[in-house]
Amino acid sequence: MTLPSSTTQLVPEVHAIPQHVAIIMDGNGRWASSRRLPRVAGHERGLSALRKTVEASVEIGIKALTVFAFSSENWRRPEDEVSFLMALFLRALRREVKELHRNGIQLRIIGDLDGFSEPLRKAIRDSVERTRGNEGMVLTVAVNYGGRWDVLNAVNKALEQDGVQRSGTPRLTEDSIRPYLALSDLPEPDLFIRTGGEQRISNFMLWQLAYTELFFTNVHWPDFDGTVLREAIESYLVRERRFGRTSGQLASQTMPSIRTN
Ligand code: IPE
Ligand code: IPE
Ligand code: MG
Repeated sequence: MTLPSSTTQLVPEVHAIPQHVAIIMDGNGRWASSRRLPRVAGHERGLSALRKTVEASVEIGIKALTVFAFSSENWRRPEDEVSFLMALFLRALRREVKELHRNGIQLRIIGDLDGFSEPLRKAIRDSVERTRGNEGMVLTVAVNYGGRWDVLNAVNKALEQDGVQRSGTPRLTEDSIRPYLALSDLPEPDLFIRTGGEQRISNFMLWQLAYTELFFTNVHWPDFDGTVLREAIESYLVRERRFGRTSGQLASQTMPSIRTN
C-alpha cells in the first residue's frame, strides 16, 4: 500500500493507520558530531524535525503522537548539555504552543515534573492548560520520564486508593494499575519508532509498549521527516498483529474484536 504523499489529505484505509505512534528521538549528538558541530546543534535541529513530524502526523491522520525528549537517565549527561536542553525545552514551549493551538493540537507532558525549575514547570502548566480543550491530535512530550517511574507511580497511586487498601486482598491487578499509568486514556501505541540506529527501549513506555510494533531506523533524529514516518507506517501496515492468537483465528470472521487493554 502506498501512503498519501505530503501534498494530499486523502488517506486510503484510514482504519489501518496507526492511531498512536511513539517515537524515541535519538541520534541528535551523532548527527552534530558527524558535521563537526557541537552536540547541542543536533538538539536544536531536532526541534525542527519534531515540528515537521507533527505536521506530517496530522496530515496522515495519526490521532496521538508521543515523543521521548528527555529520559530520567539523561540527567547523567554533562551539565552544559542538560542546561542547554532545559533552555531549549522552555523556549520551545514559549514559541511553539501558539502554532500547536492554532492547529487544534492538544499538548500533554508526561514525566516527573518535580525535577524541573519553577519557570519550566509554569511554562508546562500554561501550555498544557491552553491546549487542553483542543480536539485534534494529542501530542505528548515525555520529559524526565522513565517507564519504571511510570509503573511505580501507578502502583503507588493504586495502593493509595481506599478500595485497594480496604478490600482485604492486597493483590493489585492489571486493571487496578492501568488507570494510573501515563496516557491511560489513549490506546496503547500501535507503532514505536526509534531513530539513531540503537535497538533498545531505553526505559520508554515499558508497560504501554507491550504489544506495540517496533520500527528502528538508522536515520538520526534531525534528519527525520514525513518521508521516514511514512516508511515506518508502510512497514507497520503489512504486519500481522496477533496479540497471542493464531493467524487462523485472525482470519476467522467469528473472532471477537481484539483488545489488549
Ligand atoms: C537524543 O539524541 C536526544 C536526547 C536524548 C535528549 P542524543 O543526544 O541521545 O544523540 P546521540 O544518541 O548521542 O547521537
Ligand atoms: C533515549 O535516548 C532518550 C531520549 C531520546 C530522550 P538516549 O540516547 O538517552 O538512550 P541511551 O542511553 O543511548 O539508551
Ligand atoms: Mg542517544
